[in-house]
Amino acid sequence: MAHPSDADVPMGAVGVVIVAAGSGSRLGAAVPKAFVLVGGRPLLWYAVRSALACHPAALVVAAPPTHVADAATVVDALGRQAGIPVRVVAGGAERGDSVLAGTDALPAECEVVLVHDAARAFAPPDVFERVATAVTTDTAAIVPVLPVVDTMKVVDDQGFVVGTADRESLRIVQTPQGFRREVLLEAHRRHGSVATDDAALVELLGRRVGTVAGDPAALKVTTPDDLAHAERLVAHVEHR
Ligand code: C5P
Repeated sequence: MAHPSDADVPMGAVGVVIVAAGSGSRLGAAVPKAFVLVGGRPLLWYAVRSALACHPAALVVAAPPTHVADAATVVDALGRQAGIPVRVVAGGAERGDSVLAGTDALPAECEVVLVHDAARAFAPPDVFERVATAVTTDTAAIVPVLPVVDTMKVVDDQGFVVGTADRESLRIVQTPQGFRREVLLEAHRRHGSVATDDAALVELLGRRVGTVAGDPAALKVTTPDDLAHAERLVAHVEHR
């Protein structure tokens, strides 16, 4: 009989997939979001630098098909400096397609896959580390979360309040999200197009999803206001 602790052992090599193939239309920029400059560098550069700081075995960027060469220009030097293999592949039409394209390009030794949105370019390295170390054979998916500080209401389609959510049981979910590779692939194969994050697909498999502390700096750059916030963040962190 398997003892519970036998099943709950840490996993092997970690690979990172950075999905950067979205257009970012809500930002209203002339280039795909991952190439928008903050503090003079593309968002993608910050996302890759942070991910490499937790020493994964390999990193793959899923870039817009039109920008594969541009993405390689942005990230190649970072990979060389870190001594970590970094590849760029073409992403797909949907985010899930980009996740699969990136995961397929990771070496077979990567048993754990951290999926990260390039749009969360300022997620600090310690979030990657917390997520990676929390993925075990038993808890096959881990998400970084923040507590909800605002009161949350449920409304109907006309905007009238129909209820108040229990804030204590709610969390804001970020990326990087960490998975056992085969569980991530099975989740996408079975439920690929039905969710806004990868962990939701694992939930649909009926598997346990764990949480670790996220970080406010891992905000998703979505609107021009977020971009202004990111500029302030970079000015603060890079010029300290
Ligand atoms: O569109 P959304 O903001 O949900 O995108 C989240 C992340 O997924 C972004 O980093 C974006 O570049 C990426 N994405 C992708 N391929 C797509 C759509 C989105 O890599 N087809």
